[in-house]
Order: sequence, then structure tokens, then C-alpha cells
Amino acid sequence: AMAQDKFKIGLILPMTGPFASTGKQIEAAARLYIAQNGDMVAGKKVELIVKDDTSAADVTKRLAQEMVVNEKVSVLAGFGLTPLAFATAPIATQSKTPMVVMAAATSAITQASPFIVRTSFTLPQAAVAIADWAPNNGIKKVVTLVSDYGPGIDAEKFFKDRLLFNGGQVLDSLRVPMRNPDFAPFLQKVRDLKPDAVYVFVPSGAGAALMKQFAERGMDKAGIKLIGTGDITDDDILNSMGDVANGVVTSHHYSASHNSALNKKFVAAFEKANNGLRPNFMAVGGYDGMRVIYEAAKASKGAGGEALLDAMKGQVFESPRGPMFIDAQTRDVVHNIYIRKVEKVGGQLFNQEFATIKDVKDPGKSR
Ligand code: DHB
Repeated sequence: AMAQDKFKIGLILPMTGPFASTGKQIEAAARLYIAQNGDMVAGKKVELIVKDDTSAADVTKRLAQEMVVNEKVSVLAGFGLTPLAFATAPIATQSKTPMVVMAAATSAITQASPFIVRTSFTLPQAAVAIADWAPNNGIKKVVTLVSDYGPGIDAEKFFKDRLLFNGGQVLDSLRVPMRNPDFAPFLQKVRDLKPDAVYVFVPSGAGAALMKQFAERGMDKAGIKLIGTGDITDDDILNSMGDVANGVVTSHHYSASHNSALNKKFVAAFEKANNGLRPNFMAVGGYDGMRVIYEAAKASKGAGGEALLDAMKGQVFESPRGPMFIDAQTRDVVHNIYIRKVEKVGGQLFNQEFATIKDVKDPGKSR
């Protein structure tokens, strides 16, 4: 087919390095979406171009530039970490190319370019929900422990403000390096402060190391609970965490055990296509991002640029996570946030949803 007969999607992801699980989940989800929905859209052949940015922001930006200039992609997509999305935003703006953020979750990302649309989530959405749950469930004194970059700082701030508003107390706020974190000295500090709970944000993939050290330091035996956003009990690795994860309560927009016909179908198809790999919230961000791209391409009849962008705004649909929409003003995702507890189901650990906060907009946007 000739160039103009193709609809190219430039998918830039960390496929190697410490955040490779994010890339693997999103690529698998995008390929599943294409397998289920066909590789023709608006009369054009869909071409998915996947590039590994190794989670280095300068590489993400260079790859995006090449995709726009050389490949003439209609849309940029992926963005496994906040700094990678921020680095690429000027390319989207300058080239008028829609940029679908499928993973990164710092609130301010959508404000970095009018061409950004987000299908992942925001940390403030998740953080506020668990800060409402905690004080009603015996957790009044908390130490926060977050990865020291955008989403961690959002997770800390929005949790803290809401917990204080609800009459709780934050005894200390600890930040650990984002790359190669050693949690031990921070967990020791938490132990010494004797809070009711430690509230944690670490990016997808880092939760297992935190859990292991939490158990090794006997935090649970010292009576300190672990709570957090759902990034910590990430479905990609939850089942390998062992008993320490059992009973942990988190807030998030997606669980692989979400009880809907659509999700059951999604999980079964994803596992079948990927040697039994369980989809996590990254996979769902990628799958829904493809949905937004396909439907926008159809509605704008294969046009790119602003027409494609406009057709992404305001989309309302059922996701494997539950109902969601793209807020037309903010271009950010609106969806339910669920409170979940890790439980054993059929011998496997799952995040079992037990309460729902409906249609949550990003609390970061109203400030
Ligand atoms: C981000 C990355 C993650 O892996 C995650 O779980 C949440 C946020 C980020 O960099 O924005």
C-alpha cells in the first residue's frame, strides 16, 4: 500500500531495563486490540511501529521526532513513565500530532501539550480515594513513602491533604530514589515512627521489592499496615509476592479480577495470547488507548492532526476497567476508582474490588 493508504501508530515504550514490564504489557495489549478489531481503519491499513526508549527521556523524544518526520505517523502513543511523556510533549505540539499517553500518570502531563490525550489514570484520582477509606477503617496515623518523581509527589500530596482534611495525621513523608531504590533505611524509619500504616507509591514493577523488604523487616508483625495506590499490588507481579501481599488494601482504576463480562473476555484473550501473562493496569491503558485511536480515526475518516485529536475528545465507552470517558476539556481520563483488598481466589492472589467511587475526574485539574 502507498504511504497515504497507511495509518501509522508510533508506539514508544520501555521494552528493556527496569520498566520493561510496562512496555511488554502495553505492546501485548495493542496487538490484542488489533487482532480483535482488524488491521484496517477508515479504509487504511494500520501499521503499529514499536520502538524501545529504554526509559531514557532523550531517547523517547528522539524516537518521537523520527516517527513524525520519517515515518509520518498519524499518532504517537505509549509513554511508560512521566519524564518520557513530558520530554515528548513539545514534539506533539510542534507537529500537531495527537499523543496518547497510555501509562504515565502525573496529573500535569495533559497540560504539557494540547495534543495529549490520556487513557491511563492519574495518581490524584487513586490517592484521594484511599485517603477517604483509611480513617474510616482504623488508620489515622500514616507515614507516606513514595518514589521521588512526578507521580510519587502527586501521590504524596493528594493523599496527605485529604487525610488531614479527614482528621488523620501524616507523621512523616519519605521519598525514595526512583531508580534502584533501597527501601531498607526508609522502612526502618517507618518502624521507628510506629504509624497505623505506611502509604506507598512505587511505579509498576517495583512493588515486589518493596513487599519483600516490608516482610523481612517484620513491619506487619510490628502492627504496621501497608496501604497505597494499586501500583504496589500490580497484577503483573502480584501473584509472585506471596503471603505478605495478602490483605493489602489499595485504590485503583483496574483489577484483573474486575467483575464484568467485558473484562473476563479481555483477561482470557490476553492470557491466551501471552503464555498466561496476567494483564495489569498498563495493559488496560494500552488497550483503551487503541480503542480511542481506532474510533477517532473512523470518525475523522483517516485524517490526522487536529481532526483526529478532536475525535478523541469526549469518547465514552466501556473499558475492561469499567465505564470511562475522555473529558473533552481536559483530554484526561474519567473513570471509577475501586477500593480493593488482596485475597486468594482459586489459589492465586487478586485485587478484589469491594467499593466503587464513580466517575472520578482528576482532582489535580480543579486546583
Ligand atoms: C508512572 C509509572 C508507573 O509505572 C506507574 O505505576 C504510575 C505512574 C509514571 O511514571 O507516571
